Amino acid sequence: MTKKILHALTRNNTGRPPFWFMRQAGRYLPEYRKVRATTSNFLELCYSPKKAAEITLQPLRRYKMDAAIIFSDILVIPDALGQKVKFVDGVGPVLEPVSKASDLDCLSSEEIDNVLQPVLETITLVKYALNNNTTLIGFAGSPWTVAFYMVEGGSNKDGTKVKYWAKKNSYSFQKLIDILCDATIRYVLKQIESGVEVIQLFDSWAGLLNREDFKRWVIEPNRRIVKNIKFHYPNIPVIGFPRNAGKKYFDFAQQTGVDGINIDHTVSLDWAAEVLQPICTVQGNLDNSILLSGGKEMDSAVKNILDILSRGPFIFNLGHGILPATPPEHVERVVKLVNSWRG
Ligand code: CP3
Repeated sequence: MTKKILHALTRNNTGRPPFWFMRQAGRYLPEYRKVRATTSNFLELCYSPKKAAEITLQPLRRYKMDAAIIFSDILVIPDALGQKVKFVDGVGPVLEPVSKASDLDCLSSEEIDNVLQPVLETITLVKYALNNNTTLIGFAGSPWTVAFYMVEGGSNKDGTKVKYWAKKNSYSFQKLIDILCDATIRYVLKQIESGVEVIQLFDSWAGLLNREDFKRWVIEPNRRIVKNIKFHYPNIPVIGFPRNAGKKYFDFAQQTGVDGINIDHTVSLDWAAEVLQPICTVQGNLDNSILLSGGKEMDSAVKNILDILSRGPFIFNLGHGILPATPPEHVERVVKLVNSWRG
């Protein structure tokens, strides 16, 4: 058994680097679109273990990635807490926003286990189907990013409302973050019990915050989640993804206790090699728009990442999820380049 992802996360890379892709299961694959078409409701798909397991495995059949990531979404947590969440075609997630302290009374952790049980069943099904070399990754959204969607009511790019609440009434906003921390810890521990071997925490909107707020709303909650995982399962690695954090990636890596850090495409490779790799395994960071456009530029971007980051602990991945219009052949080409890489 050679789980290259687990080796990389314990700083023991050998041979070509391991790889997987954020959003490796998704609309760029015709076989995904086919299963997706069987339900109009995206969350229902996340809660259908057989379909979700099939979707999780689809990209592995094509590309033999070193990891499978469970097919689900970060917004199952607000759904499980009782907030109204739906996904609208062409729009994305739409939530009935929570915007003030009194709205928190509508959230309840009573049903969490029941609502999320199907995701655990998906994990069992996928685990059974995987070979001995493939690592199973579970995930959750980090509290700041989940709060972003809960308060904005969807993908509002500047995060005005969530930042306003955090500034204006940090006491009640902290309560929301605490509710999310507790629910997330509970959820990821159950994922581990069900068989996932790594947890990735997605903090996609971390880049909206200044240093002080980043410490409070990004570093602290992620640190608390990592600490709880490590308390119960000291050998389960955690990968953090404070997207667009710039130089603050270092503070995050140093202060949260994560084993790996996923860098977005704006992070300089030399800086990541020099500053991040000594303290953390780096995962990333091909620009998803380069993966979309392909060609020679893509080849040289991939080689450049491999050249610079493969000297240290490293997992090849993207800087953000695969875009729906990406030709599957581009993914195939990248996989070929990584597989044939000889440092
Ligand atoms: O393959 C995988 O990566 C596993 C599955 C996965 C999905 N979402 C499936 C999905 C994972 C890990 C996520 C994480 C997620 N979800 C994040 C963090 C990573 C990031 O992208 O920043 C966020 C912010 C979300 C919330 C979310 N879910 C948004 C904003 C959207 C709409 C945008 C879009 O791509 O449609 C989704 C929907 C979603 N989640 C889809 C998939 C495959 C597409 C839905 C569809 O098929 O209609």
